[in-house]
Amino acid sequence: MRKMILDCDPGHDDAVAIILVGNNPEFELLGITVESGNQTLKKTGRNALNLVQFLELDVPVCLGATNPIIKEVEICDAIHGESGLDGFDFPELKIDFDSRHAVDFIIQSVMNSTEKITMVTTGPMTNLALAIRMEPRILDNIEEVVLMGGSFQNGNVTPAAEFNVYCDPEAAHIVFNSNVKVTMVGLDVTRKVLTYPAIIERMEKVNNHVSDMFVKLMKVFNENQKRVFGFEGSPLHDPVTIAYLIDPTLLEVVFVHCDIDISHSTSYGRTNCDIFDYLKLEKNIYVAKDIDVKKFWNIIEDSLKRY
Ligand code: BDR
Ligand code: CA
Repeated sequence: MRKMILDCDPGHDDAVAIILVGNNPEFELLGITVESGNQTLKKTGRNALNLVQFLELDVPVCLGATNPIIKEVEICDAIHGESGLDGFDFPELKIDFDSRHAVDFIIQSVMNSTEKITMVTTGPMTNLALAIRMEPRILDNIEEVVLMGGSFQNGNVTPAAEFNVYCDPEAAHIVFNSNVKVTMVGLDVTRKVLTYPAIIERMEKVNNHVSDMFVKLMKVFNENQKRVFGFEGSPLHDPVTIAYLIDPTLLEVVFVHCDIDISHSTSYGRTNCDIFDYLKLEKNIYVAKDIDVKKFWNIIEDSLKRY
């Protein structure tokens, strides 16, 4: 069983990542750590708690960074709405946050574990970067980092940068240069898994309380993606990380040199991936190049059915 910490900023697609990891017997989810991103920390934290309660998970939720390391907070309310998770009315909250700060939780959990921990990040990487800076010895006990973020092609906030990396490029720089195994699941693959109406109809047929939440959330996600990007379906970015850990044949992955642009130019936040190895620099990052779309939707459907 893989021991895991999920660091996120829910968010419609983060919510689906939590659905996937929540009741999968292959994972032991030690905790969910949260930071600002799709909305302010207050809202992403509340969304994480709502999801944990609704899915009946016995998992601590720890609040983390309110701000990126250097930049001002960016939020993505155009896509995720006023609450950060518009589209579903959760029941009254009866659970509360763990009292530990996310960064302390990551450090304690990793340092105290007899087995190596997998870190999955589906938001800006502020919490993980701060944990690495505060206690670099955690790197010896991290199995790998699998993150949704970046793009070797175009960005989705600027021509160059993807949202999670753009929110906190300096944090991403710390993680990418940590010498731990990092797999970058970027827009290059996540923009291939779109929640077209036919997908929503298929998941609706699962017909349980979690598929009902999924359908309601995805309908609002689709309306917003259509308005902002003109997409007919929404790229279901974040759960690709978990789906890849469930089935590593899901992604075609290449090992490349990649650095984060922290130069404050118009490419600020770009994940500069040398896919063709022009520069002959030391390779440091595994980058997802392609995805088996059919397998992905099967994993989503199977996960919904388990609730
Ligand atoms: C990423 O940005 C957020 O809006 C999503 O939750 C995802 O993690 C995609 O660029
Ligand atoms: Ca996210």
